Amino acid sequence: MPQSDRMLLIELANSVNELAGAIKELRDSQSEIMGRLDSLEQQLKQNRAAAKGQTRTGYAQFEDLLALYRDIDPGQSLPRMRNWAAGPELLRFLYEEIMERRRTGVLECGSGTTTVVMAYAMRSLGSGKVTALEHNPHYAALTRHELSERGLTEWAEVADAELSDVVIDGQAWRWYDVEAIPSGEIDMLLVDGPPGDTGPQARYPALPLLADRLSESALVVLDDANRADERAIVQRWTEQFPQFESQRLRHERGTVALRRADNGA
Ligand SMILES: C[S@@+](CC[C@H](N)C(=O)[O-])C[C@H]1O[C@@H](n2cnc3c(N)ncnc32)[C@H](O)[C@@H]1O
Repeated sequence: MPQSDRMLLIELANSVNELAGAIKELRDSQSEIMGRLDSLEQQLKQNRAAAKGQTRTGYAQFEDLLALYRDIDPGQSLPRMRNWAAGPELLRFLYEEIMERRRTGVLECGSGTTTVVMAYAMRSLGSGKVTALEHNPHYAALTRHELSERGLTEWAEVADAELSDVVIDGQAWRWYDVEAIPSGEIDMLLVDGPPGDTGPQARYPALPLLADRLSESALVVLDDANRADERAIVQRWTEQFPQFESQRLRHERGTVALRRADNGA
């Protein structure tokens, strides 16, 4: 083969190699783009599902809020809901539990909007009392003020209960001073305090300390049950108190309701 043809062939072979390299690069970037498109599509699906869930929750809360105002007819705005306080879905649930099952002996850990709404329920029933344990004197005073300006002091009281040392099965906890809890059977126990920043699994002591004060058909309600600490608390409670069945309610921040199995309530 003449030298010039050989050179031409080598050049051709080099160009074919370059072309093959360029094609490979194109393929690589194509599959990278496809991968990115896939993950964008996944993200979009997740965002759509989250937006749908938020719309559903928002609408359900709106309905619960309307139902609360219709049932309570408070004559003035109810105190703030959500954020530090319970949401309308939990407040409606508590209101209906009191009304439908005549839960007249209510103890709650952590005062606030729940205290006011449950006091309205007691007033509608015409009997019963809510006792709210409160470790923070400022918020105790605020809740007392809310009750008093609505004429509800007959139906609910805030008990000042400092966080104190308590030992359960050899383990130390900080929980409300039990001396502040009035005597009598508890029909409903709402566990919405102490706040999470007072210690890990801060709400755990409620059931071990109060289980023998609960009536046979009592209901225990734990708010914020989507949080890791509260999930761990529910697991501990159900292991230690197998007589209780737990039910997870589809509330914004999660609520768990525990009842003794087969009590008909
Ligand atoms: C998780 S919050 C729940 C209070 C109540 N169970 C409710 O849902 O309305 C717990 C703590 O919030 C505090 N708190 C009460 N009233 C408050 C208010 N107006 N603003 C901010 N925090 C308040 C109290 O110290 C209470 O123990």
